[in-house]
Amino acid sequence: MLVHTKRGTPDATRAPLILGIESSCDETAAAVVRGGRHILSSVVHSQAEMHARHGGVIPELAGRSHLQKILPVMDAALHEARVAPEDIDAVAVTTRPGLIGSLLVGLSAAKSWAWVHEKPLVPVHHIEAHIWAATMEHEAPSWPCIALVVSGGHSSIYRCDSPLAFVELARTKDDAAGEAFDKVAHILGLSYPGGPSVSKLAAQGDPRAHDFPRHRNKDGSLGFSFSGIKTAVLYKVRGKSQGGPLPLPEEIPDRAGLAASFEQAVCDVLVEQTLEAARREALDTVLVAGGVACNRRLREQMAREAARRGVRALFPSPSYCTDNAAMIAGHGAPLFLAGRVAGLGLDAQAS
Ligand code: KG4
Ligand code: ZN
Repeated sequence: MLVHTKRGTPDATRAPLILGIESSCDETAAAVVRGGRHILSSVVHSQAEMHARHGGVIPELAGRSHLQKILPVMDAALHEARVAPEDIDAVAVTTRPGLIGSLLVGLSAAKSWAWVHEKPLVPVHHIEAHIWAATMEHEAPSWPCIALVVSGGHSSIYRCDSPLAFVELARTKDDAAGEAFDKVAHILGLSYPGGPSVSKLAAQGDPRAHDFPRHRNKDGSLGFSFSGIKTAVLYKVRGKSQGGPLPLPEEIPDRAGLAASFEQAVCDVLVEQTLEAARREALDTVLVAGGVACNRRLREQMAREAARRGVRALFPSPSYCTDNAAMIAGHGAPLFLAGRVAGLGLDAQAS
């Protein structure tokens, strides 16, 4: 195994110790991970409460909050891991995709830290790191495998040929799955972020109470569309009066049944299409990652259906499904070992 002890000097004796930094959306996070898997610390400052007042992420507020929190969060991650800067082999940082103002804060902090401490910088793709997260707490999966990434901004199926090679097989045409949860939460008068609040209410409802559409592409290709389900929920909630403000939560009949039936429809589509991708690619492992992978119904249904078809389904624990820096520091290891390091000219890319 090649490890750089100083910039450019390989050390074949130990797994790399990586400081990871994540700030692509509304979580400011830093973590220290050894060898891609062993998490020494993972510190996350969530802005969810601040954005909840506005019903969604406000990019300007997100950037300002990252700026206030990034250095304390990095210090806390190093302190909790009980490592000194000189112990760190490289700094891995999310450079894409995400909100540009948010990405820039983490990237600038990473660059400054790397320069001051003379460490290499490793650019990390946020979505690929989510996929890596699904491998960290398990026996290393056999590559290639299939990955479903379902978050607030993305819903895609990938074929993962190796920890360094990801091919997107299908994506959503419109809303991401998490975005659909967030919008349906708003329609049902639930708090932001919508995933946890819809899921909590859904636990009390009948998932067969309402028949919501399950989108499939007519040409048989894989790919998601969640805007139809969301609109169907809206029509049910509004009834005959399609204009004007949304009804108050207490005026919506069978809110729990609506939440459960919506959640069930989303899970049916995610599970079916992911396992169909595994079948078409003749692969027997699926990784499920991103914030929506916290969803209990999705975890249970995917595990059950996968097992029925002889496929292994792996998930991160819930705290590593949503945005965190352990996945960035973790994925930083194979990237670093492959020499994927960058200079201080490294830039952020929103998409
Ligand atoms: O991966 P993530 O933390 O951030 C992005 O990269 O987007 O995902 C956030 C998304 C939000 O849309 C949130 O509503 C959703 O994940 N989410 C859930 C659950 N927990 C979080 N969706 C469904 N069920 C959950 N339990
Ligand atoms: Zn994410």
